[in-house]
Amino acid sequence: MNSYIEASDFFKGNDPEKLAEEYKTPLYVYSEDIIREHMATVAKVITKYDYTANYSVKANTNIEILKLALGEGINCDAMSEGELRMLLKAGFPSERIFFVPNNVGDEELEFAIDNGIVTSLDSLSQLEKYGRLAASKNAGYECAVRINPGVGAGHSEKVITGGKKTKFGIAEEDIPKIYDILDKYGLKLVGINQHIGSQFLDPKPYLDAVENLLRIARGFKGLKFIDFGGGYGIPYHKLDDEAVYPMEDFKARLIPILDAFVADYGYAPLFKSEPGRFCVAEGGVILGRVHAVKENAGRRYAGTDVGMNVLIRPAMYDSYHDVEIIRDGRVVLREDMSEITVTGPICESGDILAKERMLPKIQEDDLVCVLDAGAYGYSMASAYNSRLRPAEIMICHDGSVKLIRRRETYEDLMSLF
Ligand code: LLP
Repeated sequence: MNSYIEASDFFKGNDPEKLAEEYKTPLYVYSEDIIREHMATVAKVITKYDYTANYSVKANTNIEILKLALGEGINCDAMSEGELRMLLKAGFPSERIFFVPNNVGDEELEFAIDNGIVTSLDSLSQLEKYGRLAASKNAGYECAVRINPGVGAGHSEKVITGGKKTKFGIAEEDIPKIYDILDKYGLKLVGINQHIGSQFLDPKPYLDAVENLLRIARGFKGLKFIDFGGGYGIPYHKLDDEAVYPMEDFKARLIPILDAFVADYGYAPLFKSEPGRFCVAEGGVILGRVHAVKENAGRRYAGTDVGMNVLIRPAMYDSYHDVEIIRDGRVVLREDMSEITVTGPICESGDILAKERMLPKIQEDDLVCVLDAGAYGYSMASAYNSRLRPAEIMICHDGSVKLIRRRETYEDLMSLF
């Protein structure tokens, strides 16, 4: 593919150069249509049984994006009080939110209890803490637990969240102790959940993990729901025509696993999944400006304003993001390519956006368009080097442009002192 933004009509006729001038670079740009389409896809992963998709908001918590999830009828999961507050502000009712925190204090658990949000506890000590708080308030007696299924998968060791070497979940051998704590505080266990990791394009590890969790679930009586977690991948190498997640094949292989469980268990609890990346990654790009082109010891560099403060994934996980070059508002054809390393303005040698990449010849003042930045982009951005966090805009269904988060100002930066 020469250009994803052209093939998908990402900007819907808006000139990226004009957007960059008006909102300044770096700039996050989202496509309402693409995000809605992905959310609609995850809403239908299971149709044979009761099912809800929970959008995992850590991927992107912009309130306007949360409202798209609300509109598409999917639910959400949150990891922190901040994410819970964002969801409530976006208009989500408590019963459409699932809280799946890790290592939180009394305050965050109390916030969930006070707002009637079902919470999953991911260690015996957190369950104990929750039980003590719930009992003191005479409320919040229904809860869930996160199981560590002993297996994990993902694009980097840093995103594998299941298995013996991770901090998440309650180990299978500790399950009997869960009941002691439930009894002590009069808690009622209504669900179990897991999340094995992130970004797989082969459905096999996830299907194995579903089977494994259902094996464990047979030991729990009276569950109202079972949540299999997120992790569905997206093609980050899309300009090289990498295949998309085989959703239809995945769905076809999932159903017999669920059928076998339901036959044994006696009834079908509500099934859930928690996709984050799949919902929003492909619906977001970053526009950045090339401020310098140079050669150092035979290596060519393009210096842009898209630093690791704006998108940390390449520096943190060696992640690959496709880059398109835009000149005078038009995508430069992928011909006459040569090797160049695209970097940011941050004072770190690891501040590399695209390492030794074959790209069309880059000139100063070109725009770079970084693809697949809708997930774990802005939500992981920082103010490192005292840089301002960028604005976020949405290209709406009708082609209009909406500012959905303003760019930070230097006053914002100073305001905490
Ligand atoms: N549920 C739980 C409990 C999670 O911890 C996560 C992600 C998800 C759902 C959503 O996973 P997804 O569908 O997005 O793969 N920052 C990393 C990804 C970290 C994912 C952490 N947990 C990255 O940029 O690749």
